[in-house]
Amino acid sequence: MEISELLQPYRLKNLILRNRIVMAPMLSRLCYPEGIVSPQLIDYYAERARGGVGLIIVEYCYIDEKESKANQGQLGAYDDQLIAGLGDLAEAIQEWGTKAVLQICHGGRSTSAKFMGRQPIAPSAMPSYTGEMAREMTLSEIENTIESFAEAARRAKIAGFDGVELHGAHGYLMAQFLSPYTNRRPDVYGRDRGLFALQTLERVRSRVGKDYLVGYRMSGEEFIEGGVTLQETKAFAKRLEERGIDYIHVSAGIIETGQHFVIPMYFPKGHLLHLSEGIKSAVNIPVIAVGALHDPLLAEQALKKKQADLIAMGRALIADPELPNKIQSGRTEDIRTCLRCNEGCSSRVRQSKTQRCAVNAEVGRERQMRLHPVLRPKHVCIIGGGPAGMEAARVLALRRHRVTLIEKENELGGLLRYAAVPDFKAELRSFLEYQKTQVKKLGVEVLLNRRATLDFLKELKPDNVALAAGSSMSVPEIPGSHKPFVATAIDLLSGKYQAGDRVLVAGGAAMGCEVAAHLASLGKKVTLVEMLGDLALDLEMRSRLAILQLLKERGVEFLTGWKLAKIEEGYALLLGGDFKEMQVKADSVILALGLTSNQELLKPLTETFGNFFVIGDCLEPRKIYQAIHEGAFSGRAI
Ligand SMILES: Cc1cc2nc3c(=O)[nH]c(=O)nc-3n(C[C@H](O)[C@H](O)[C@H](O)COP(=O)(O)OP(=O)(O)OC[C@H]3O[C@@H](n4cnc5c(N)ncnc54)[C@H](O)[C@@H]3O)c2cc1C
Ligand SMILES: Cc1cc2nc3c(=O)[nH]c(=O)nc-3n(C[C@H](O)[C@H](O)[C@H](O)COP(=O)(O)O)c2cc1C
Ligand code: SF4
Repeated sequence: MEISELLQPYRLKNLILRNRIVMAPMLSRLCYPEGIVSPQLIDYYAERARGGVGLIIVEYCYIDEKESKANQGQLGAYDDQLIAGLGDLAEAIQEWGTKAVLQICHGGRSTSAKFMGRQPIAPSAMPSYTGEMAREMTLSEIENTIESFAEAARRAKIAGFDGVELHGAHGYLMAQFLSPYTNRRPDVYGRDRGLFALQTLERVRSRVGKDYLVGYRMSGEEFIEGGVTLQETKAFAKRLEERGIDYIHVSAGIIETGQHFVIPMYFPKGHLLHLSEGIKSAVNIPVIAVGALHDPLLAEQALKKKQADLIAMGRALIADPELPNKIQSGRTEDIRTCLRCNEGCSSRVRQSKTQRCAVNAEVGRERQMRLHPVLRPKHVCIIGGGPAGMEAARVLALRRHRVTLIEKENELGGLLRYAAVPDFKAELRSFLEYQKTQVKKLGVEVLLNRRATLDFLKELKPDNVALAAGSSMSVPEIPGSHKPFVATAIDLLSGKYQAGDRVLVAGGAAMGCEVAAHLASLGKKVTLVEMLGDLALDLEMRSRLAILQLLKERGVEFLTGWKLAKIEEGYALLLGGDFKEMQVKADSVILALGLTSNQELLKPLTETFGNFFVIGDCLEPRKIYQAIHEGAFSGRAI
């Protein structure tokens, strides 16, 4: 399918957007304390504007110094002294031809007293996701909050932003008023749950004028029992339209159901398109769709099917700020695909850290990580063509070094070749293709089917060496673990081993869960056994909730607190607490019990080359995040 609609300019009220791609608002934690704009924040957004996106909706800002702050490291729009910094930010975006909107927000119950030193307030007294109790807002607090929204919008306008977006999604204050789950007030704000947002809109409008762009982000549904439904949000969208909102941006969920708006790889792409489509059918103003819409073809199709007028992408633009320009110039094979892993972005910001990205080591330090070509190129040999080795090769080649990438297998990719097999790992397959394409395009010399040895390296006489030999599956000495009906996860995923109808998967970390879900999709009857009390504990929270849901949907049976003790033909013996034993019928047993680093070359290389880089799983089995970051840093250090 040709991509045309997505690239068309679009009139949004008085603004002409150069295309229909919008950057979704995303907390970066890159500002200074007290929500002041920092140079890192400016560089981060300027990089994305430079990459060609039509509109950037800047991350949520807090609007007063009382209870509105929803998170540490949040940007502020609560005081006139912040206008200068916000102005620099708006300008840095607009200079690249991108329009800039500022999202304004009050956390309500979705915050903690830690952030502002005050008890959270909410439409009704209810605990927050942290378990802290929020108290019910008084009428004068409601009035003051409406005024704070209007003042924050005024500051955005003075700063030079092209518009503001009221954050009425994800279970923050405005959404709390709308939702029957969180608004149990007996007064007028409870009888009409939309009133707070409508009054806020009216006040904002009176402050910024009728020509200024004011949008509204809503959760089309909240994915929680008792929360708002699409039927209700459609009716509310009509009311917003009648009161002069300029666009509606349709997300979903509340903090507690965050897996439905920061959608992990285990849920399908375009997970929320039915919601934007529903809202669009109810109104005549522009509707923005969001949620795993990073695939340009899917985005194009959504526009063609009139499921939305604009497409917001969040993580896709963290992973690759140049995505819009790459689509524009027909270089889609160069797009560095977001994995929807949440490891660097969502998970880190939830832990009070700055935003980063598993596949893009530059995020949040765009200036520091800018690539500079070298004056005197060196010859660098990289051992291992997995993600760490390929990232190091990419960076070194971009810096004009001569790179030889040595891989013992007949293909590049390392463990990603197997990790990417399950149906829900489409993004990983696409990222692997991206890496292979870059290595090829940049003229890296690739030696396949070549096991690097010390003698071979001596022959090549490199100036520098990076060891990226990765890791291999661990096979513990359990009685029966070497029998023919027992295989490792990699044997299975590589197609070397074909599983029988009843399969026991040992190891309930992410790898085992994924293997179990994959086998279940092939029609196998799967039992997943984990020694610990719970599954997928190595995944960030949203991904974990999503894979647990997938395992249930696919009918995988789980046994936690049980250890694989012995394997015999037709069954496996498990040991539980208090010396309990259980036999589970199984035609095949798949071991997903961890990885061991390939460090055979470590000692000989140290003795011969002295100073060299050891990167990725070869150092210690971990994840793509570490493989890419270590590859990126070693590539810059030589
Ligand atoms: C089933 C599975 C699923 C996974 N899913 C995810 C996921 O969803 N997200 C995530 O973040 N991580 C995931 N991982 C982990 C991730 O794949 C690894 O962290 C990552 O691949 C490590 O990259 P690397 O380049 O360091 O090593 P590897 O990917 O192991 O690559 C090392 C390469 O070196 C080659 N090599 C070794 N010795 C030599 C030698 N002497 N000469 C030449 N070549 C050599 C190997 O053949 C291999 O190609 C998964 C792992 C598995 C097994
Ligand atoms: C790190 C991170 C921070 C986010 N912060 C915000 C925010 O400030 N305001 C908001 O409305 N949504 C926020 N979101 C949700 C995104 O705007 C977007 O809806 C979500 O990531 C789904 O889009 P995607 O699949 O294209 O990433 C955040 C998401 C991420 C990953
Ligand atoms: S950390 Fe993972 S989910 Fe987040 S932007 Fe990067 S690749 Fe995407």
